[in-house]
Amino acid sequence: MSENVQRTLVVLKPDAVQRAIAGELLARFERRGLRIAALRLMRVSRALAETHYAVHAGKFFYDDLVKTISASPVVAIVLEGPNAIAVVRAMVGATRPHEAAPGTIRGDYALVGLRNLVHASDAPETAATEIALWFPEGVVSYTRDVERWMTDEGAPA
Ligand SMILES: Nc1ncnc2c1ncn2[C@@H]1O[C@H](COP(=O)(O)OP(=O)(O)OP(=O)(O)O)[C@@H](O)[C@H]1O
Ligand SMILES: [Mg+2]
Repeated sequence: MSENVQRTLVVLKPDAVQRAIAGELLARFERRGLRIAALRLMRVSRALAETHYAVHAGKFFYDDLVKTISASPVVAIVLEGPNAIAVVRAMVGATRPHEAAPGTIRGDYALVGLRNLVHASDAPETAATEIALWFPEGVVSYTRDVERWMTDEGAPA
């Protein structure tokens, strides 16, 4: 296999669900060619929020971060595809939306850091940890016929 196929965790945060753009944001990732390996609407417990954001414990925004992601349901998704981690991070854009480039999700839809709509894993190690945390039951493995038209697999024709 010539490609670096990866899985990454995406969380469409409460602001995405409340603004009724969760489907629109998921559609961007689907249209890019990424495959949905897991998908769930869920309320985030304080315990899950604290574990997920443990790396930020002690920072001035930590308490707000934990409260914000627990405030209303989220859509948790595992996406899969060649270089999925970097591809998704690039599509999401800079953490601070005023620094996010137009064309990115945060650059197109968000204004402030606590309402930046999307979480995305930032490295293979964190992706593996986060996927196990959010989807302890595991993800779904399958292929789509269209993949040969979007990946190196089987090319040419
Ligand atoms: N200086 C800040 N002020 C307020 N909120 C912040 C700040 N820095 C980060 N955050 C919030 O904490 C989240 C996690 O921060 P992190 O540095 O991991 O950014 P990120 O990797 O771009 O975002 P995410 O982890 O949500 O994908 C951000 O998405 C944002 O909601
Ligand atoms: Mg992060």
